[in-house]
Amino acid sequence: MILPLDRSTQQALFDLKRVLIVDDEEPIRRLLGYMLQTHGYETVLASDAREARTRLDEQPFALILCDVNMPGESGMDLIRNILSLHPHTAVIMVTGLDSSVLANAALDIGAFGYIVKPFESNEVMIDVANALRRRRLELENRLHRENLEDVVRTRTMALQQALEWLELREKELRLSREETIQRLAIAAEYRDSATAQHIHRMSHYCELLARKHGLSAEQCDLIRTASPMHDIGKIGTPDHVLLKPGKFTPEEFNVISQHAEIGYRILNGSDAEILKVAASIAWTHHERWDGNGYPRKLKGNVIPVEGRIAAIADSFDALTTQRIYKPAFPLDQAVELMTKHRGEHFDPELLDIFFASLNEIKQIHDQYADQSPRTMIRES
Ligand SMILES: [Fe+2]
Repeated sequence: MILPLDRSTQQALFDLKRVLIVDDEEPIRRLLGYMLQTHGYETVLASDAREARTRLDEQPFALILCDVNMPGESGMDLIRNILSLHPHTAVIMVTGLDSSVLANAALDIGAFGYIVKPFESNEVMIDVANALRRRRLELENRLHRENLEDVVRTRTMALQQALEWLELREKELRLSREETIQRLAIAAEYRDSATAQHIHRMSHYCELLARKHGLSAEQCDLIRTASPMHDIGKIGTPDHVLLKPGKFTPEEFNVISQHAEIGYRILNGSDAEILKVAASIAWTHHERWDGNGYPRKLKGNVIPVEGRIAAIADSFDALTTQRIYKPAFPLDQAVELMTKHRGEHFDPELLDIFFASLNEIKQIHDQYADQSPRTMIRES
């Protein structure tokens, strides 16, 4: 693996004019050295592969002129090895054998040129200049690629961080929205001594039923989050009616019934999906499957599914928790009582689905059990 270069190393490599001449014949070494020095190059001479490696370990070279046939390790093997260890070094092979096979082999392993002895000074200098020009282009190309990769890497990282930040903010916003809704709902319920646990049970029963009914994850989440606001309209119910311990007169029932309409008016008109669902639940959670509910006497599937779900969840919680006028019914008794109203008060299919999940219902009931026995929600 070739490591990326820092700026100073890049510049040093571009400016390098040092040439290593490797040849076992001293006159050839000296001649090549002389030619190159007279054209402004710095030269270092090596008589065999081993000495060449030592010189390469000491300092970098822009170019190596390497004899092919040398005693010991051949020039080809040396070059193959050098190019893998020093990829920024250009190579020109020098040989006494004018062979196209050898020339191709040299080019195949990465040599930039091939000079046949005897050679002319001009020929050598042209090949050296070409090899160095090509080396520079390849270096520039590689550095450009590395810079691009750097930019892409940096921008990808910045994008990932921005996405993580957005996800975190979105999660915070969602949690704070849900908490605000729950606290507002609790505030409304608090007037008739309801507990926060009622809100939690209600919302989880609704979510459970919505999920078992096969609604999308998004719809289930909306119903879970919006359902705590079902009785928000009680804000508009006078205390003497809301807090009355006994049975309602028909007039009082008429007053308390208005909480569905009031809740709808409070929540209606928003573009936010959660408030649209909340408005629908507030308006329809007292409608009955047989059309005898309130406030609009809607019937059957005309009642929005979220309203039919909330009706079951709200009634079940009313039955299974203590109220002013009654103790908490055991779960099986609540199931029996509600089943009697299957197809009358409640959507029969939804009721069956709900009671098919008794284990999960019990889990919610126990997990959010009222802390104090003084839970006194009026069923309204
Ligand atoms: Fe209600």
